[in-house]
Amino acid sequence: MAQNWTPTSWRQKPISQVPDFPDASVLAATEAQLATYPPLVFAGEARNLKKALANVSEGRGFLLQGGDCAESFAEHGADTIRDFFRAFLQMAVVLTFGAQQPVVKVGRIAGQFAKPRSSNIERQGDIELASYRGDIINGIDFTPESRIPNPERQIMAYRQSAATLNLLRAFAMGGYANLDNVHQWMLGFVKDSPQAERYRKLADRISETMDFMKAIGITPETNPSLRETDFFTSHEALLLGYEQALTRVDSTSGDWYATSGHMIWIGDRTRQPDHAHVEYCRGIKNPIGLKCGPSMTADGLIELIDILNPANEAGRLTLICRFGHDKVAEHLPRLIRAVQREGKKVVWSCDPMHGNTITLNSYKTRPFERILSEVESFFQIHRAEGTHPGGIHIEMTGNDVTECTGGARALSGADLGDRYHTHCDPRLNADQALELAFLLAERMKGGRDEKRMLVNGWA
Ligand code: TRP
Ligand code: MN
Repeated sequence: MAQNWTPTSWRQKPISQVPDFPDASVLAATEAQLATYPPLVFAGEARNLKKALANVSEGRGFLLQGGDCAESFAEHGADTIRDFFRAFLQMAVVLTFGAQQPVVKVGRIAGQFAKPRSSNIERQGDIELASYRGDIINGIDFTPESRIPNPERQIMAYRQSAATLNLLRAFAMGGYANLDNVHQWMLGFVKDSPQAERYRKLADRISETMDFMKAIGITPETNPSLRETDFFTSHEALLLGYEQALTRVDSTSGDWYATSGHMIWIGDRTRQPDHAHVEYCRGIKNPIGLKCGPSMTADGLIELIDILNPANEAGRLTLICRFGHDKVAEHLPRLIRAVQREGKKVVWSCDPMHGNTITLNSYKTRPFERILSEVESFFQIHRAEGTHPGGIHIEMTGNDVTECTGGARALSGADLGDRYHTHCDPRLNADQALELAFLLAERMKGGRDEKRMLVNGWA
Protein backbone atom coordinates (compact mmCIF):
# COMPACT_ATOMS: atom_id res chain seq x y z
CA MET A 1 0.00 0.00 0.00
CA ALA A 2 1.20 3.50 -0.74
CA GLN A 3 1.87 5.18 2.58
CA ASN A 4 1.16 8.75 1.62
CA TRP A 5 -2.47 9.50 1.43
CA THR A 6 -3.83 12.73 0.02
CA PRO A 7 -7.36 13.60 -1.13
CA THR A 8 -6.08 13.01 -4.68
CA SER A 9 -3.98 9.87 -4.17
CA TRP A 10 -6.88 7.71 -5.43
CA ARG A 11 -6.27 9.16 -8.89
CA GLN A 12 -3.06 7.09 -9.18
CA LYS A 13 -4.98 3.83 -8.66
CA PRO A 14 -6.99 1.60 -10.97
CA ILE A 15 -10.66 2.44 -10.76
CA SER A 16 -13.92 0.81 -11.85
CA GLN A 17 -17.39 2.24 -12.36
CA VAL A 18 -16.14 5.58 -13.72
CA PRO A 19 -18.38 7.50 -16.09
CA ASP A 20 -17.11 8.50 -19.49
CA PHE A 21 -17.25 12.30 -19.21
CA PRO A 22 -17.00 13.79 -22.71
CA ASP A 23 -14.99 16.84 -21.67
CA ALA A 24 -12.32 16.52 -18.97
CA SER A 25 -11.87 20.28 -18.67
CA VAL A 26 -15.56 20.88 -17.91
CA LEU A 27 -15.40 18.13 -15.30
CA ALA A 28 -12.28 19.65 -13.71
CA ALA A 29 -13.86 23.11 -13.65
CA THR A 30 -16.96 21.72 -11.94
CA GLU A 31 -14.92 19.92 -9.32
CA ALA A 32 -12.92 23.08 -8.70
CA GLN A 33 -16.14 24.98 -8.20
CA LEU A 34 -17.52 22.37 -5.79
CA ALA A 35 -14.32 22.58 -3.80
CA THR A 36 -15.15 26.20 -2.98
CA TYR A 37 -18.62 25.38 -1.63
CA PRO A 38 -19.38 24.93 2.08
CA PRO A 39 -19.23 21.44 3.56
CA LEU A 40 -22.58 19.69 3.99
CA VAL A 41 -21.66 18.18 7.35
CA PHE A 42 -18.89 19.00 9.76
CA ALA A 43 -16.22 16.84 11.37
CA GLY A 44 -17.63 17.02 14.90
CA GLU A 45 -20.85 15.40 13.72
CA ALA A 46 -18.97 12.59 11.99
CA ARG A 47 -17.07 12.03 15.24
CA ASN A 48 -20.34 11.87 17.18
CA LEU A 49 -21.63 9.24 14.79
CA LYS A 50 -18.40 7.32 15.19
CA LYS A 51 -18.84 7.33 18.97
CA ALA A 52 -22.40 6.09 18.63
CA LEU A 53 -21.24 3.33 16.27
CA ALA A 54 -18.43 2.43 18.67
CA ASN A 55 -21.14 1.65 21.22
CA VAL A 56 -22.94 -0.48 18.66
CA SER A 57 -19.74 -2.39 17.90
CA GLU A 58 -19.45 -3.13 21.62
CA GLY A 59 -23.00 -4.47 21.78
CA ARG A 60 -24.65 -1.37 23.26
CA GLY A 61 -26.76 -0.07 20.42
CA PHE A 62 -28.39 -0.83 17.11
CA LEU A 63 -27.81 0.82 13.73
CA LEU A 64 -30.79 1.65 11.56
CA GLN A 65 -29.64 2.74 8.12
CA GLY A 66 -32.07 3.22 5.27
CA GLY A 67 -33.42 5.24 2.41
CA ASP A 68 -33.76 5.20 -1.35
CA CYS A 69 -31.63 2.97 -3.50
CA ALA A 70 -31.03 6.14 -5.52
CA GLU A 71 -32.28 9.64 -4.82
CA SER A 72 -33.53 11.48 -7.88
CA PHE A 73 -33.78 15.09 -9.00
CA ALA A 74 -37.37 14.54 -10.10
CA GLU A 75 -38.53 13.50 -6.64
CA HIS A 76 -37.26 16.25 -4.45
CA GLY A 77 -40.46 17.37 -2.81
CA ALA A 78 -40.83 18.17 0.87
CA ASP A 79 -43.49 15.46 1.15
CA THR A 80 -41.12 12.74 -0.03
CA ILE A 81 -38.53 13.74 2.56
CA ARG A 82 -41.12 14.13 5.31
CA ASP A 83 -42.78 10.80 4.59
CA PHE A 84 -39.45 9.02 4.55
CA PHE A 85 -38.47 10.57 7.87
CA ARG A 86 -41.82 9.73 9.37
CA ALA A 87 -41.55 6.05 8.45
CA PHE A 88 -37.92 5.94 9.49
CA LEU A 89 -38.60 7.42 12.95
CA GLN A 90 -41.41 4.98 13.56
CA MET A 91 -39.07 2.12 12.77
CA ALA A 92 -36.54 3.67 15.13
CA VAL A 93 -39.02 3.82 18.03
CA VAL A 94 -40.14 0.26 17.52
CA LEU A 95 -36.55 -1.00 17.29
CA THR A 96 -35.45 1.05 20.31
CA PHE A 97 -38.17 -0.61 22.32
CA GLY A 98 -37.40 -4.04 20.89
CA ALA A 99 -33.68 -3.79 21.49
CA GLN A 100 -33.95 -1.72 24.70
CA GLN A 101 -30.90 0.04 23.35
CA PRO A 102 -30.24 3.32 21.58
CA VAL A 103 -30.88 3.17 17.85
CA VAL A 104 -28.33 5.03 15.76
CA LYS A 105 -30.27 6.69 12.95
CA VAL A 106 -28.50 6.97 9.62
CA GLY A 107 -30.38 7.87 6.45
CA ARG A 108 -29.34 6.72 3.03
CA ILE A 109 -30.19 10.23 1.94
CA ALA A 110 -28.90 13.73 1.13
CA GLY A 111 -26.19 12.44 -1.20
CA GLN A 112 -27.18 8.96 -2.41
CA PHE A 113 -27.08 9.75 -6.12
CA ALA A 114 -24.38 7.63 -7.79
CA LYS A 115 -25.03 4.02 -8.80
CA PRO A 116 -22.59 1.26 -9.74
CA ARG A 117 -23.89 -0.79 -12.68
CA SER A 118 -23.31 -4.39 -13.68
CA SER A 119 -23.07 -3.38 -17.34
CA ASN A 120 -21.86 -0.21 -19.07
CA ILE A 121 -24.55 -0.67 -21.69
CA GLU A 122 -28.33 -0.87 -21.48
CA ARG A 123 -30.16 -2.48 -24.37
CA GLN A 124 -33.83 -1.89 -25.20
CA GLY A 125 -34.95 -3.67 -28.34
CA ASP A 126 -32.33 -2.92 -30.99
CA ILE A 127 -30.98 0.15 -29.26
CA GLU A 128 -27.95 0.21 -27.01
CA LEU A 129 -27.12 3.20 -24.85
CA ALA A 130 -24.76 3.92 -21.97
CA SER A 131 -26.26 2.74 -18.68
CA TYR A 132 -27.91 5.12 -16.26
CA ARG A 133 -25.47 5.77 -13.40
CA GLY A 134 -27.55 7.89 -11.07
CA ASP A 135 -28.79 11.48 -11.32
CA ILE A 136 -25.42 12.88 -10.23
CA ILE A 137 -23.95 11.49 -13.48
CA ASN A 138 -26.53 11.15 -16.26
CA GLY A 139 -30.27 11.02 -16.91
CA ILE A 140 -32.56 7.99 -16.60
CA ASP A 141 -34.44 8.69 -19.87
CA PHE A 142 -33.52 6.21 -22.55
CA THR A 143 -32.18 8.73 -25.06
CA PRO A 144 -28.61 9.26 -26.25
CA GLU A 145 -28.51 12.86 -24.95
CA SER A 146 -29.80 11.99 -21.52
CA ARG A 147 -27.21 9.25 -21.03
CA ILE A 148 -24.22 11.53 -21.65
CA PRO A 149 -22.47 12.14 -18.29
CA ASN A 150 -22.87 15.79 -17.36
CA PRO A 151 -20.70 17.38 -14.63
CA GLU A 152 -23.31 20.10 -14.04
CA ARG A 153 -25.36 17.37 -12.34
CA GLN A 154 -22.82 17.30 -9.49
CA ILE A 155 -23.70 20.88 -8.64
CA MET A 156 -27.38 19.96 -8.70
CA ALA A 157 -26.77 16.93 -6.47
CA TYR A 158 -24.80 19.09 -4.03
CA ARG A 159 -27.62 21.65 -3.86
CA GLN A 160 -30.30 19.01 -3.48
CA SER A 161 -28.30 17.32 -0.72
CA ALA A 162 -27.97 20.65 1.10
CA ALA A 163 -31.70 21.34 0.87
CA THR A 164 -32.64 17.81 1.94
CA LEU A 165 -30.24 17.91 4.85
CA ASN A 166 -31.57 21.29 5.89
CA LEU A 167 -35.11 19.97 6.13
CA LEU A 168 -34.02 16.82 7.94
CA ARG A 169 -32.09 18.85 10.50
CA ALA A 170 -35.17 21.01 11.04
CA PHE A 171 -37.36 17.92 11.48
CA ALA A 172 -34.88 16.25 13.83
CA MET A 173 -34.42 19.28 16.08
CA GLY A 174 -37.51 21.43 15.55
CA GLY A 175 -40.24 19.30 17.11
CA TYR A 176 -41.31 16.98 14.32
CA ALA A 177 -39.36 14.07 15.85
CA ASN A 178 -41.19 14.49 19.17
CA LEU A 179 -41.65 11.01 20.60
CA ASP A 180 -45.35 11.68 21.26
CA ASN A 181 -45.89 12.36 17.55
CA VAL A 182 -43.96 9.33 16.44
CA HIS A 183 -45.85 7.18 18.90
CA GLN A 184 -49.20 8.41 17.56
CA TRP A 185 -48.18 7.74 13.94
CA MET A 186 -47.10 4.28 14.96
CA LEU A 187 -50.48 3.59 16.57
CA GLY A 188 -52.16 4.75 13.35
CA PHE A 189 -50.08 2.32 11.37
CA VAL A 190 -50.98 -0.57 13.67
CA LYS A 191 -54.69 0.25 13.61
CA ASP A 192 -54.79 0.13 9.81
CA SER A 193 -52.60 -2.90 9.36
CA PRO A 194 -54.07 -6.26 8.36
CA GLN A 195 -51.70 -7.60 11.03
CA ALA A 196 -53.08 -5.21 13.69
CA GLU A 197 -53.70 -8.01 16.19
CA ARG A 198 -50.13 -9.14 15.99
CA TYR A 199 -48.50 -5.69 16.27
CA ARG A 200 -50.85 -4.34 18.93
CA LYS A 201 -49.17 -6.19 21.77
CA LEU A 202 -45.87 -4.44 21.22
CA ALA A 203 -47.55 -1.12 20.46
CA ASP A 204 -49.50 -1.33 23.74
CA ARG A 205 -46.34 -1.90 25.70
CA ILE A 206 -44.77 1.16 24.12
CA SER A 207 -47.90 3.15 25.01
CA GLU A 208 -47.72 1.95 28.59
CA THR A 209 -44.10 2.96 28.80
CA MET A 210 -44.91 6.41 27.45
CA ASP A 211 -47.75 6.77 29.98
CA PHE A 212 -45.48 5.68 32.79
CA MET A 213 -42.85 8.23 31.82
CA LYS A 214 -45.48 10.94 31.64
CA ALA A 215 -46.76 9.98 35.09
CA ILE A 216 -43.35 10.49 36.62
CA GLY A 217 -42.89 13.82 34.87
CA ILE A 218 -40.68 12.85 31.95
CA THR A 219 -42.34 14.52 28.97
CA PRO A 220 -41.15 16.09 25.72
CA GLU A 221 -41.88 19.49 27.26
CA THR A 222 -39.55 18.88 30.18
CA ASN A 223 -37.02 16.72 28.44
CA PRO A 224 -35.39 17.78 25.14
CA SER A 225 -34.16 14.26 24.38
CA LEU A 226 -37.79 13.20 23.95
CA ARG A 227 -38.49 15.83 21.31
CA GLU A 228 -35.18 15.79 19.43
CA THR A 229 -33.15 13.11 17.77
CA ASP A 230 -29.73 12.71 16.22
CA PHE A 231 -30.06 11.92 12.56
CA PHE A 232 -27.09 11.27 10.29
CA THR A 233 -26.66 10.98 6.52
CA SER A 234 -24.82 8.45 4.39
CA HIS A 235 -24.28 7.40 0.80
CA GLU A 236 -22.03 5.26 -1.34
CA ALA A 237 -18.79 7.11 -2.08
CA LEU A 238 -18.74 6.10 -5.71
CA LEU A 239 -18.07 9.31 -7.63
CA LEU A 240 -14.66 10.10 -6.21
CA GLY A 241 -14.15 13.43 -8.01
CA TYR A 242 -17.23 14.74 -6.19
CA GLU A 243 -16.07 13.24 -2.88
CA GLN A 244 -12.62 14.74 -3.30
CA ALA A 245 -14.06 18.19 -3.91
CA LEU A 246 -15.91 17.94 -0.58
CA THR A 247 -12.98 16.49 1.35
CA ARG A 248 -11.83 19.08 3.87
CA VAL A 249 -9.36 19.43 6.71
CA ASP A 250 -10.96 19.70 10.13
CA SER A 251 -9.32 22.69 11.74
CA THR A 252 -9.57 21.33 15.29
CA SER A 253 -7.87 17.98 14.63
CA GLY A 254 -5.98 18.59 11.37
CA ASP A 255 -7.61 15.42 9.98
CA TRP A 256 -9.31 15.00 6.61
CA TYR A 257 -13.03 14.38 6.52
CA ALA A 258 -15.50 13.65 3.76
CA THR A 259 -18.05 16.42 4.23
CA SER A 260 -20.55 15.13 1.65
CA GLY A 261 -22.27 13.10 4.40
CA HIS A 262 -21.57 11.76 7.88
CA MET A 263 -20.90 8.19 6.82
CA ILE A 264 -19.91 6.87 3.41
CA TRP A 265 -19.59 3.32 2.23
CA ILE A 266 -17.65 1.30 -0.33
CA GLY A 267 -19.71 -0.88 -2.65
CA ASP A 268 -19.24 -4.59 -3.21
CA ARG A 269 -18.09 -3.87 -6.79
CA THR A 270 -15.42 -1.29 -5.91
CA ARG A 271 -13.73 -2.76 -2.84
CA GLN A 272 -10.51 -4.04 -4.47
CA PRO A 273 -7.83 -3.32 -1.84
CA ASP A 274 -5.37 -1.70 -4.27
CA HIS A 275 -7.97 0.33 -6.17
CA ALA A 276 -9.17 3.90 -6.00
CA HIS A 277 -12.25 3.64 -3.76
CA VAL A 278 -10.44 1.91 -0.93
CA GLU A 279 -7.55 4.35 -1.34
CA TYR A 280 -9.86 7.35 -0.98
CA CYS A 281 -11.74 5.97 2.01
CA ARG A 282 -8.70 4.90 4.00
CA GLY A 283 -7.57 8.50 4.38
CA ILE A 284 -10.71 10.18 5.63
CA LYS A 285 -11.71 9.93 9.28
CA ASN A 286 -15.48 9.48 8.92
CA PRO A 287 -17.18 6.26 9.91
CA ILE A 288 -17.18 4.11 6.81
CA GLY A 289 -19.16 1.15 5.61
CA LEU A 290 -17.92 -1.79 3.59
CA LYS A 291 -20.39 -3.89 1.63
CA CYS A 292 -19.66 -7.60 1.86
CA GLY A 293 -21.18 -9.99 -0.66
CA PRO A 294 -20.72 -13.71 -1.29
CA SER A 295 -17.39 -13.19 -3.07
CA MET A 296 -15.76 -11.68 0.04
CA THR A 297 -13.19 -14.10 1.42
CA ALA A 298 -12.15 -14.15 5.07
CA ASP A 299 -8.57 -13.21 4.18
CA GLY A 300 -9.79 -10.51 1.80
CA LEU A 301 -11.92 -9.05 4.54
CA ILE A 302 -9.08 -8.97 7.06
CA GLU A 303 -6.83 -7.32 4.47
CA LEU A 304 -9.44 -4.63 3.87
CA ILE A 305 -9.99 -4.08 7.58
CA ASP A 306 -6.24 -3.61 8.07
CA ILE A 307 -6.18 -1.00 5.30
CA LEU A 308 -9.34 0.83 6.30
CA ASN A 309 -9.01 0.66 10.07
CA PRO A 310 -5.35 0.09 10.90
CA ALA A 311 -5.75 1.40 14.46
CA ASN A 312 -8.71 -0.96 15.07
CA GLU A 313 -10.79 1.98 16.21
CA ALA A 314 -14.30 1.03 17.32
CA GLY A 315 -17.03 2.77 15.28
CA ARG A 316 -14.80 3.39 12.28
CA LEU A 317 -15.92 0.39 10.23
CA THR A 318 -19.35 -1.09 9.61
CA LEU A 319 -19.52 -4.33 7.64
CA ILE A 320 -22.73 -4.26 5.64
CA CYS A 321 -23.46 -7.88 4.74
CA ARG A 322 -25.56 -8.61 1.67
CA PHE A 323 -25.50 -12.28 0.87
CA GLY A 324 -29.08 -13.29 0.07
CA HIS A 325 -31.51 -15.22 2.26
CA ASP A 326 -30.25 -18.56 0.94
CA LYS A 327 -26.53 -17.73 1.16
CA VAL A 328 -26.17 -15.91 4.47
CA ALA A 329 -25.70 -19.15 6.43
CA GLU A 330 -22.91 -20.19 4.10
CA HIS A 331 -20.95 -16.93 4.17
CA LEU A 332 -21.56 -14.97 7.34
CA PRO A 333 -20.14 -17.43 9.91
CA ARG A 334 -16.74 -17.65 8.21
CA LEU A 335 -16.43 -13.86 8.11
CA ILE A 336 -17.52 -13.49 11.74
CA ARG A 337 -14.98 -16.09 12.84
CA ALA A 338 -12.14 -14.40 10.97
CA VAL A 339 -13.02 -11.03 12.50
CA GLN A 340 -13.25 -12.57 15.98
CA ARG A 341 -10.00 -14.49 15.57
CA GLU A 342 -8.19 -11.28 14.58
CA GLY A 343 -9.84 -9.24 17.32
CA LYS A 344 -11.16 -6.62 14.88
CA LYS A 345 -13.69 -4.10 16.12
CA VAL A 346 -16.56 -3.75 13.66
CA VAL A 347 -20.26 -3.12 13.51
CA TRP A 348 -22.08 -6.00 11.84
CA SER A 349 -25.01 -4.78 9.79
CA CYS A 350 -27.38 -6.74 7.57
CA ASP A 351 -28.40 -5.49 4.14
CA PRO A 352 -31.22 -7.92 3.33
CA MET A 353 -32.09 -6.17 0.07
CA HIS A 354 -29.30 -6.63 -2.44
CA GLY A 355 -28.92 -10.40 -2.31
CA ASN A 356 -32.65 -10.94 -2.73
CA THR A 357 -33.49 -9.27 -6.02
CA ILE A 358 -35.51 -11.26 -8.55
CA THR A 359 -37.37 -10.43 -11.75
CA LEU A 360 -41.12 -10.90 -11.79
CA ASN A 361 -43.42 -9.81 -14.65
CA SER A 362 -40.34 -8.00 -16.01
CA TYR A 363 -40.04 -5.91 -12.81
CA LYS A 364 -37.02 -6.12 -10.54
CA THR A 365 -38.51 -6.94 -7.18
CA ARG A 366 -37.72 -8.41 -3.75
CA PRO A 367 -40.03 -10.69 -1.81
CA PHE A 368 -40.64 -9.39 1.71
CA GLU A 369 -40.37 -12.92 3.13
CA ARG A 370 -36.84 -13.28 1.78
CA ILE A 371 -35.82 -9.92 3.21
CA LEU A 372 -37.19 -10.91 6.61
CA SER A 373 -35.62 -14.33 6.32
CA GLU A 374 -32.15 -12.91 5.67
CA VAL A 375 -32.38 -10.62 8.69
CA GLU A 376 -33.61 -13.46 10.88
CA SER A 377 -30.74 -15.69 9.79
CA PHE A 378 -28.35 -12.82 10.42
CA PHE A 379 -29.64 -12.55 14.01
CA GLN A 380 -29.55 -16.30 14.61
CA ILE A 381 -26.02 -16.64 13.28
CA HIS A 382 -24.76 -13.83 15.50
CA ARG A 383 -26.46 -15.36 18.50
CA ALA A 384 -24.80 -18.69 17.73
CA GLU A 385 -21.38 -17.07 17.28
CA GLY A 386 -21.74 -14.93 20.39
CA THR A 387 -21.44 -11.67 18.44
CA HIS A 388 -23.70 -8.64 18.25
CA PRO A 389 -26.11 -8.30 15.32
CA GLY A 390 -25.51 -4.58 15.18
CA GLY A 391 -27.90 -3.22 12.61
CA ILE A 392 -29.82 -3.29 9.37
CA HIS A 393 -29.34 -1.42 6.12
CA ILE A 394 -32.45 -1.25 3.97
CA GLU A 395 -33.79 0.39 0.83
CA MET A 396 -37.09 2.01 1.72
CA THR A 397 -39.33 4.96 1.03
CA GLY A 398 -42.07 6.68 3.00
CA ASN A 399 -44.39 6.44 0.02
CA ASP A 400 -46.95 3.80 -0.78
CA VAL A 401 -45.07 2.24 -3.70
CA THR A 402 -45.46 -1.27 -5.07
CA GLU A 403 -41.90 -2.41 -5.63
CA CYS A 404 -41.32 -5.31 -3.22
CA THR A 405 -43.83 -8.16 -3.07
CA GLY A 406 -45.37 -9.57 0.11
CA GLY A 407 -45.86 -8.02 3.52
CA ALA A 408 -49.10 -7.79 5.47
CA ARG A 409 -50.92 -6.45 2.42
CA ALA A 410 -49.58 -9.35 0.37
CA LEU A 411 -48.48 -7.36 -2.68
CA SER A 412 -48.36 -9.73 -5.62
CA GLY A 413 -46.40 -9.75 -8.85
CA ALA A 414 -49.49 -8.41 -10.58
CA ASP A 415 -49.53 -5.35 -8.27
CA LEU A 416 -45.99 -4.26 -9.12
CA GLY A 417 -47.07 -2.15 -12.09
CA ASP A 418 -49.39 0.04 -9.98
CA ARG A 419 -46.85 2.34 -8.34
CA TYR A 420 -43.40 1.18 -9.33
CA HIS A 421 -41.43 4.42 -9.06
CA THR A 422 -37.86 3.56 -8.10
CA HIS A 423 -34.96 4.94 -10.11
CA CYS A 424 -32.97 1.86 -9.37
CA ASP A 425 -33.68 -1.05 -7.01
CA PRO A 426 -37.07 -1.94 -5.48
CA ARG A 427 -37.68 -0.40 -2.04
CA LEU A 428 -39.81 -1.41 0.91
CA ASN A 429 -42.80 0.90 1.12
CA ALA A 430 -43.65 2.63 4.40
CA ASP A 431 -45.87 -0.20 5.66
CA GLN A 432 -43.44 -2.93 4.72
CA ALA A 433 -40.56 -1.06 6.37
CA LEU A 434 -42.52 -0.69 9.59
CA GLU A 435 -43.61 -4.30 9.51
CA LEU A 436 -40.00 -5.33 9.26
CA ALA A 437 -39.27 -3.22 12.34
CA PHE A 438 -42.17 -4.78 14.28
CA LEU A 439 -41.19 -8.32 13.36
CA LEU A 440 -37.57 -7.71 14.36
CA ALA A 441 -38.54 -5.96 17.57
CA GLU A 442 -40.79 -8.87 18.50
CA ARG A 443 -37.88 -11.25 18.16
CA MET A 444 -35.39 -9.03 19.97
CA LYS A 445 -37.84 -8.63 22.76
CA GLY A 446 -38.59 -12.35 22.92
CA GLY A 447 -34.90 -13.08 23.44
CA ARG A 448 -34.62 -10.43 26.15
CA ASP A 449 -37.73 -11.49 28.03
CA GLU A 450 -36.26 -14.98 28.34
CA LYS A 451 -33.01 -13.57 29.69
CA ARG A 452 -34.83 -11.38 32.21
CA MET A 453 -36.88 -14.33 33.47
CA LEU A 454 -33.65 -16.20 34.09
CA VAL A 455 -31.94 -13.26 35.80
CA ASN A 456 -34.93 -12.60 38.04
CA GLY A 457 -35.26 -16.26 38.84
CA TRP A 458 -38.79 -16.51 37.43
CA ALA A 459 -37.97 -19.13 34.86
N1 TRP B 1 -33.75 11.31 21.53
C1 TRP B 1 -34.08 9.90 21.67
C2 TRP B 1 -33.56 9.12 20.45
O1 TRP B 1 -33.30 9.71 19.44
C3 TRP B 1 -35.59 9.69 21.80
C4 TRP B 1 -36.40 10.09 20.62
C5 TRP B 1 -36.98 11.30 20.39
C6 TRP B 1 -36.73 9.27 19.52
N2 TRP B 1 -37.67 11.30 19.22
C7 TRP B 1 -37.52 10.07 18.66
C8 TRP B 1 -36.45 7.95 19.19
C9 TRP B 1 -38.00 9.54 17.46
C10 TRP B 1 -36.92 7.45 18.00
C11 TRP B 1 -37.71 8.24 17.14
O2 TRP B 1 -33.42 7.92 20.54
MN1 MN C 1 -29.66 -0.66 -4.42
